[in-house]
Amino acid sequence: TVGNSTNIKWHGCSVDKLERQELLQQKGCVIWITGLSGSGKSTLACALSRGLHSRGKLTYILDGDNVRHGLNSDLSFRAEDRAENIRRIGEVAKLFADSGLICIASLISPYRKDRSACRAMLPGGDFIEVFMDVPLQVCEARDPKGLYKLARAGKIKGFTGIDDPYEPPLDCEIVLQQKGSKCASPCEMAEEVIGFLEEKGYLR
Ligand code: PPS
Repeated sequence: TVGNSTNIKWHGCSVDKLERQELLQQKGCVIWITGLSGSGKSTLACALSRGLHSRGKLTYILDGDNVRHGLNSDLSFRAEDRAENIRRIGEVAKLFADSGLICIASLISPYRKDRSACRAMLPGGDFIEVFMDVPLQVCEARDPKGLYKLARAGKIKGFTGIDDPYEPPLDCEIVLQQKGSKCASPCEMAEEVIGFLEEKGYLR
């Protein structure tokens, strides 16, 4: 029995992850970008995808906001639904990594427990957590979608950072911060992540 399914059996195939990786000349992994709304997760995801693509590496972005338009359109922002959103994106990211892709997941994923569960799905260092360490005041000043304003006015309930918690990672692979009062550009941040991937042998 697996979960609620009984009488199911795993089918293997002789074309495996190693062969797919050989074909693609890269190592499948998940880059998990976490941080507050407005911290620049999606911008980094795009810059990273562009940077890797131009090096001939195949990527795919799973963006929380976008996945909520389809696969996860049945989920709200209640804690249980956020947990399910994160779990499903974790499972899909795991499949993409197994396909040999560099999967970039960008979602708030505010709770440590849910992120650790996704990390546990991908043993062997293939889960690379990137924390967009941008203070709430900065995200709120940016307010690209006007959501912080609505949350402060009580028009959105349970908004992350306002009346719903964000638990920063205690131990993640990469922390991206502002440098003094200046923000690093998305390209600079992407280069830092690409440097990490190179060093760890993900790009061959
Ligand atoms: S989560 O917590 O990981 O399930 O969230 P995620 O799937 O990344 O979706 C976050 C985007 O949804 C919008 N939004 C909210 N965010 C936080 N709290 C509440 N209550 C909320 N309601 C809507 C918001 O635009 C988030 O987008 P980003 O890209 O993070 O700014």
